[in-house]
Amino acid sequence: MARILGIESSCDETAAAVVVDGYRVLSSVVASQTHLHERYRGVVPEIASRAHIENILPVVSEALHQAGCRLEDIDAVAVTSRPGLIGSLLVGVTAAKTLAWAKGRPLIGVDHIHAHLYSVMLGKPPPQWRPAVGLVVSGGHTALYDLPDMMNPRLLGSTIDDAVGEAYDKVAALLGLGYPGGPVIDRLAEGGDPRAVRFPRAMLGRASLDFSFSGLKTSVLYHVRGFQGRQRSAQALSEKEVRDVAASFQAACVEVLVGKVQRALKLTGARVVIVGGGVSANRALRRALEQLPVPVLLPPVEYATDNAAMCAGLAELFYRRGLFSPLDLDAVAWSGFGVENRAAKDETGRRAPGVVPK
Ligand code: KG4
Ligand code: ZN
Repeated sequence: MARILGIESSCDETAAAVVVDGYRVLSSVVASQTHLHERYRGVVPEIASRAHIENILPVVSEALHQAGCRLEDIDAVAVTSRPGLIGSLLVGVTAAKTLAWAKGRPLIGVDHIHAHLYSVMLGKPPPQWRPAVGLVVSGGHTALYDLPDMMNPRLLGSTIDDAVGEAYDKVAALLGLGYPGGPVIDRLAEGGDPRAVRFPRAMLGRASLDFSFSGLKTSVLYHVRGFQGRQRSAQALSEKEVRDVAASFQAACVEVLVGKVQRALKLTGARVVIVGGGVSANRALRRALEQLPVPVLLPPVEYATDNAAMCAGLAELFYRRGLFSPLDLDAVAWSGFGVENRAAKDETGRRAPGVVPK
C-alpha cells in the first residue's frame, strides 16, 4: 500500500491528486483551461503549455493540502509521460522529476490511455473484472484493448482518422455550440430525435475492430451546410433541428462504439467491459453499454475526463512491482500502449496496422 502523488498535464487540464492503495482518492484537483481555448474552438498547444507552467505548482500544493499531507508523506510521484501535447507533457514530467529527486522518492511515468482504463477502479475496492475488453473514448484516442489484466494490454483496434471526442468537438463547432463539444451535444441530444437523420455508421468491414469518424463528421457538415458545406449557415437551423442533428450524430457514434465492443467481446471471450476517457461521461453511451449482456465498468463521472487521480491510482500497480522510471524519463507525444502485444496479423489474416513483422 502506498500514498502516491499523481500529476497530469497531457492536454489542457493541469491536475494533481493524492491516492492511497490505488483507489482511495484523498484529493483530486483539476485546473481547467477551457476558458483560454474556447475562442479558438480547440486546444492551442502553446497556450496550453504556458498555462500549465503557471498552474502546476499551485495545483500540486492544493492537492497535498486537500489530502492533509506534506510532500514528505508521499511514497512515490507518478506522472503522465505519454501520449499528449509534447510541450504540455514536459511541464508535468519536469515537475514530477524535480519533486521525486528533491524528496528522494521513486518516480513512476504512466501512459495516459492506460490511466483512462484504470479510472474505473477509483473510489471503491476494485471489483472482479478479469478478463476484460477495454474501450478508450477520448478527445485524442479511440481504441479497443484485450485486457487479460491491467498490466498486459493488447491493442485490438483504433481509429484510423478522428477520435470520437474530436468528432463531437468538431460537430459542435460546426453547429456553433462552443468548446468542448461533447457535454453540449450530450445535453442537446436528450431533447432530440436520434432517428431524425440517418448518418453513416463506419463499421469498416465485417471483422474490423478499427474505427473511423471523419466520414460521419463530413456527413453532418453536408447535412447542415448543404453541398460541400458551402450552401447554408448552421444558424439557419431551428432549435429543434439542432437537437435532432445532435441526437442523430450521437446515435451513430454510440451504435459504432457499442457494435465494436460486441465484436471484441466475441473475439476475446472476455466477460467484462471497461470504458474510460472523456466520452465515457456521455449519457447515451452509458445507457447503450448498460444493455450489453456483461457487466460494464465505467469511471465515476468526475474521473471520466482528464484528472490525476487515475494516474496516481494506476501507479500503485507499478509501485507494488517495483517498476520505477529513471530520473531522465522523457515526455513522448506518441503512445505505444498495447501495440507491442498486438498480433502481427488480425483475425482476417491481414497485417495489422502499426505492427512491424519480425
Ligand atoms: O479524456 P479527455 O478529458 O481528454 C483526452 O484525453 O482527450 O476527453 C475529452 C473529450 C472531449 O472531446 C470532450 O468533448 C469529450 O471528451 N467529452 C464528452 C462528454 N464529456 C467530455 N463527449 C461526449 N459526451 C460527454 N458528456
Ligand atoms: Zn484523456
